[in-house]
Amino acid sequence: MGSGIATACIMVGIRVVVKEINQQFLDAGMGRIADNVNVRVAKKKLSQEKADAMLALARGTLDYADFRDCDMVIEAALEQIPLKQAIFADLAKHCRPDCILATNTSTIDIDLVSEKIKDQSPRVLGAHFFSPAHVMPLFEIIRTGSTDPDVLHATIAFGKRLRKTPVTVGNCTGFAVNRVFFPYGMAASILVDRGVHPYEIDKAIKAFGMPMGPFRLNDLVGMEVAISVAKNFTDNFPERCYMSPLMGLLFGDKRLGERTAAGFYRYPKGSRKEQPDPDLAGYLDRARGQAGNPPPAGKLSPQDIVEIIFFPVVNEACRCLDERIVVKSGDLDIACVMGMGFPPYRGGVIKWADMVGARHVVSRLEHFGKTFNNPGFFAPCDYLKRKAAQGQPLELLPELARSKM
Ligand code: 3HC
Repeated sequence: MGSGIATACIMVGIRVVVKEINQQFLDAGMGRIADNVNVRVAKKKLSQEKADAMLALARGTLDYADFRDCDMVIEAALEQIPLKQAIFADLAKHCRPDCILATNTSTIDIDLVSEKIKDQSPRVLGAHFFSPAHVMPLFEIIRTGSTDPDVLHATIAFGKRLRKTPVTVGNCTGFAVNRVFFPYGMAASILVDRGVHPYEIDKAIKAFGMPMGPFRLNDLVGMEVAISVAKNFTDNFPERCYMSPLMGLLFGDKRLGERTAAGFYRYPKGSRKEQPDPDLAGYLDRARGQAGNPPPAGKLSPQDIVEIIFFPVVNEACRCLDERIVVKSGDLDIACVMGMGFPPYRGGVIKWADMVGARHVVSRLEHFGKTFNNPGFFAPCDYLKRKAAQGQPLELLPELARSKM
């Protein structure tokens, strides 16, 4: 379905066909699109007439045959590789040969998504939106080794038409933004399993300038997405991942976030305003027990919390620069600001790290690895260590970048 993506399209006058697997899901999805538009009428940001005209651009279907005239399809199914592969095989059968086939996967390697239709790979790419898709300004476009340049250019033009900022990145697990940010939630859960309260962490991260902390963000994105994203990273980068039992416990009790009115917080009466939930304490105790009751983290300042959570993010960003997932660090900085709300006045993850200094980042990461008995998670990568040793900035300048386009 991808109701947020469909909303983003109709808001700029693009006609969409939205497909679901059954009538119940289709009705629910079409209802979300209508809510997204009608809320703007209620806020007097849009006339009823314009809202109705926008909504008339979205047509629901249960049948792939309705895709026959589409210029582009954006698959937005659950993060399951066999499911996405089956959808792509169906798309290849039903869509025009020149229709662009895009996936809004959060983390899965695009070549894997299109593996069953390898001969079609020139028209395949990633079109990654950020939650809420009709609000967040970033459009991350993932090119594979075989994406046709014309397909890439058309998708960049589509992103501009959506009034979003398109950033083109290379293909890998998590691409640029999710890849850089996977240690964010994981570092936060290392702390929670050592007795730091999630609300204290969210408060410190918000004070740093993020629009919301990692646990509130989890509730926004939804527990199913957060767990499948974390699992995909754990499968691909097992040496530097940490999975707390906490998300599984909440998931087991259907505390999926905003959508179910409970996750790490409570959301009374369909409100998006989070409320502290006293019931969370029981889940925290059980998660700590299941994690083997690791020694408490002790007293941490907000600055400590920021460094424990963001220095692993900087570390992963350095790996992305080293692997040329982006052609210049400015792309990564823009993408982190627009996709995750990294404080714009800090300039982006790499810009901020350069202001902090690579040497400080390396020494703190080494310290955290020992303190939390998790050297794999915190180990500084070669790029970061090299730049720190040479006293050079982490920034990857455009003239040094090797374009793969
Ligand atoms: N659903 C629908 N609409 C929402 C929403 C939600 N959950 N949250 C906010 N909105 C809408 C509001 O209705 C409002 O619409 P309007 O312009 O028509 O009035 C608009 O967004 C702005 O909301 P607010 O006025 O409440 O402003 P905020 O300052 O609170 O901004 C936010 C809300 C943009 C969601 C901001 O909190 C933010 O940037 N949060 C970070 C979100 C983020 O990091 N997303 C990325 C998640 S990772 C991801 O998506 C990758 C994926 O692969 C998992």
